[in-house]
Order: sequence, then C-alpha cells, then structure tokens
Amino acid sequence: MIIIYPICEFIPIYHKEHITILNRNYSANYRRLQYGMLAFRSIWDVLLFLRASSTDQNLNAFRSRLPVEQAFDLLYETATENDPWSVQTTRSRYQERKYADLLKMLPKRKYQNALDIGCGTGFLTEGIAQMAEKVLGIDISVSAITHAAARLAHHSNLEWSQGNVTDLDVIGDRTFDLAVIADTIYYLDRPISDTTLDMISDKVASLLERGGILLLANHYFFFPNADTRLTNRIHNAFKRCNSLELKREYRRAFYKVSIFEKAP
Ligand SMILES: C[S@@+](CC[C@H](N)C(=O)[O-])C[C@H]1O[C@@H](n2cnc3c(N)ncnc32)[C@H](O)[C@@H]1O
Repeated sequence: MIIIYPICEFIPIYHKEHITILNRNYSANYRRLQYGMLAFRSIWDVLLFLRASSTDQNLNAFRSRLPVEQAFDLLYETATENDPWSVQTTRSRYQERKYADLLKMLPKRKYQNALDIGCGTGFLTEGIAQMAEKVLGIDISVSAITHAAARLAHHSNLEWSQGNVTDLDVIGDRTFDLAVIADTIYYLDRPISDTTLDMISDKVASLLERGGILLLANHYFFFPNADTRLTNRIHNAFKRCNSLELKREYRRAFYKVSIFEKAP
C-alpha cells in the first residue's frame, strides 16, 4: 500500500476506481486521498504538480552550489515567466482555488497591517491586500519581490522588502494584525531543527499585535511521508508557542493550514 499510494497520488484519474476498492477494504488514508483527488480537475492540474516537482529539483541543484538567496533568485530568473511554481498560469486553476480558500479561512475583519512572509511574486499578497489597509511582502529572493513590485505597482497599499524568515529584524519594531506564511518555512535548508522552528514561531508571534491572526500553510499529502512530517513539525512548533492559540486547522489537497490568534 505504501508503494501504491505515491503512484496514485500523481496519476489519480486512472487509479480512481482502484483507490475506491482499496478504500472500502483498507484505510482511512485512501478515503482522504480520494477526497484529495478532487484537487485534480484537469490534466493541467496534474501537470502543475509535475512541474512543481521539477522546480524543487532545480532549486536543490542551485542550492548545492549557491548561497540560498542567490539560489532562489536564479530559480525565479530561469523559470518560465519568472513563475517557478506556476502560480499565474491560467490553464491550471489549482493555485487560484488554493489562494481563494486560504483567504476564506481568515477571520473576516478589515485588517490594518498585514505581513506576508515568503510572498514570492505576490499572488497571495494581492489577495491579502483586498482585506487589509497595508501589506508588507517579504521574500528571501530580490528577484521575486522585484517582479512582485513591478506587477503590482498599481496597488498603493503594498510594500516589499527582502528578508529571511529566520532573521526578521529587517522589519524593525513594526507590528501586524495579520501575518501569513504560506509554503515558506518548508523551504529552509534541511534538516530543520526544532530550535530553529521555535525561534521562528516566537519571532513571528512577537510581530503580531494582541488578537492578531497568523495563517500558516505548508504542503501536506495525507500520508506521513517526509514532507508531511516536516509540515507537522512546523505547525507543532507554532502550537508550542505560548502566546499563540490555535483557532482552526484544515487539511486540504495538498496543504495543511493552521490559523492562530495571538493572546489578547
Ligand atoms: C512556494 S513559494 C510560496 C510563495 C507564496 N507564499 C505563495 O503561497 O504563493 C516559496 C517562497 O518562499 C521564499 N522563501 C524561501 N525561503 C525563504 C526564507 N528563508 N525566507 C523568506 N522567504 C523564503 C521563496 O523565495 C519563494 O518565493
């Protein structure tokens, strides 16, 4: 079953019937997986996942010979349309649906100051900007934020800065009533220690105002592979943070989201 699962995960359409049979007889994981299959609504959605996997391979190759900032810059510079994770493709609607879902998970408020850590070229940041007076997007890649700033120059409430989630001193003493960290911590150099994760969660919590909201999202595969285990460790570090209270948790195909509130 462990071998069948990853195969099915990437060619779901052809294996759906087979999964259904396994589902009835074996494990709840397959039921969740079958639900996950709804994420693939077209062949373009499947291709998106294949492309993401090749992006991760390119990134690993760049990281093996360059400092991490330059590796992400090169990834953005060499990707088709400077979009390594295909977030702006209109053929696959997966990313668009994911961003819409993430924004729906946030408590409905008019936020004053929002922070998007690991903002990339700003597609999610743009959605956050609809809910907030001001948004600061931070990314390790100068290339990513340069593209974000150019693409979204017409939004006067967006600001961009180069920075690393492991060293957020670039933010100074500003505080926020909303912070979003989507698929960012996951990309730190591995292995990632619990000490590093605790340091990040404490720092992010210190940037939040009392009652402020944190949305944390990371890859999730309904099965305890290495990526899912890392995601669980990241989310657990934020759960350990004394000043953050977990309000909601969602498992979707193929990401996990935790919504925290800073103690009032
Ligand atoms: C998969 S993309 C996610 C982009 C955006 N959050 C989204 O959901 O569309 C990961 C982003 O994290 C950035 N990143 C990776 N490591 C980072 C770090 N240590 N600090 C800040 N940003 C980082 C990358 O440059 C990249 O733009």
